[in-house]
Amino acid sequence: MPYPLHRYRRLRKSARMRDMVRETVLQPSDFIYPLFVTGGEKVENPVEAMPGVYQLSVDRVREEAEKALSLGVPSVLLFGIPSYKDKKGSSAYDPNEPVQEAVKVLKESCPELVVITDVCLCEYTSHGHCGVVEQGKVLNDPTLEILIETALSHARAGADIVAPSDMMDGRVQAIREGLDKKGYSEVAILSYAAKYSSSFYGPFREAAGSSPEFGDRKTYQMDPANAREALKEVVSDVEEGADMVMVKPALSYLDVIRRVNEEVNVPVAAYNVSGEYSMIKAASQNGWLEEKPAVLEMLASIKRAGADLILTYYALQAARWLKE
Ligand code: PBG
Repeated sequence: MPYPLHRYRRLRKSARMRDMVRETVLQPSDFIYPLFVTGGEKVENPVEAMPGVYQLSVDRVREEAEKALSLGVPSVLLFGIPSYKDKKGSSAYDPNEPVQEAVKVLKESCPELVVITDVCLCEYTSHGHCGVVEQGKVLNDPTLEILIETALSHARAGADIVAPSDMMDGRVQAIREGLDKKGYSEVAILSYAAKYSSSFYGPFREAAGSSPEFGDRKTYQMDPANAREALKEVVSDVEEGADMVMVKPALSYLDVIRRVNEEVNVPVAAYNVSGEYSMIKAASQNGWLEEKPAVLEMLASIKRAGADLILTYYALQAARWLKE
């Protein structure tokens, strides 16, 4: 007989009371801020499908990173817009390309910033796939060698964490061994462990110029219908040496975040991806949603589901709102 013995509204009656019993509290240190690095100086190319997001040159990336730190956001994730593309994605491990340069500059100017780099080939290959392509197929094992080179080039530049997002089998183990062999045993791996073949990446592909030229990514990214398989992916990545794991996207996969949280004993990150950002942005710009409460509700729901860390384009804005 819960009622009238129990009246749940007692604990909801004032703002202070609600503060006391709140189960999930967001803080700026939950956020990782993704940035798109391009060449040149003082460059800020707006990404049309993501209002408020830009491709930035290294000097501008540094300014954004300084803002992040001053707001309590501890970390950035860097994606590269390379100066050239080829079949193998060689610009991914070229030490003179924007990501490598940005890592160096950031670690000099903001040494305490946790710099994460995305390790993948789709931004760097002429065909836009995340691996080596032969006869229309994305080859697993030959791709691993290039991923190792890429992770090493980021480690040499000073990256704290490398984040492979390609979804090739065995990449975490390959990268861990590759880093250790060259003396980078302190560089951590955040694996995009359960990465789905999602239509919510659309705006990102404009931002990063990484749309596949033919076909789709369904032979390497996961089927959105599968959750058990995500646990397999995550467990193997932890066994292969991942220090943290990620579920991506976040909103349509809150159940997966919860199950991953219960399955492994490493920090769980969730990527609130470009399409999730753009949906809320578009609705707010049309006056259909109120942006601040909608964003904070969305981020809190990701944390409540079991994410320790949230990668979000709203990182700085949300940190500002939390301080208000
Ligand atoms: C690259 C990569 C993608 C995203 C992060 N890393 C796109 C893709 O797999 O096509 C998507 C991020 C976002 O949508 O915000 N492999």
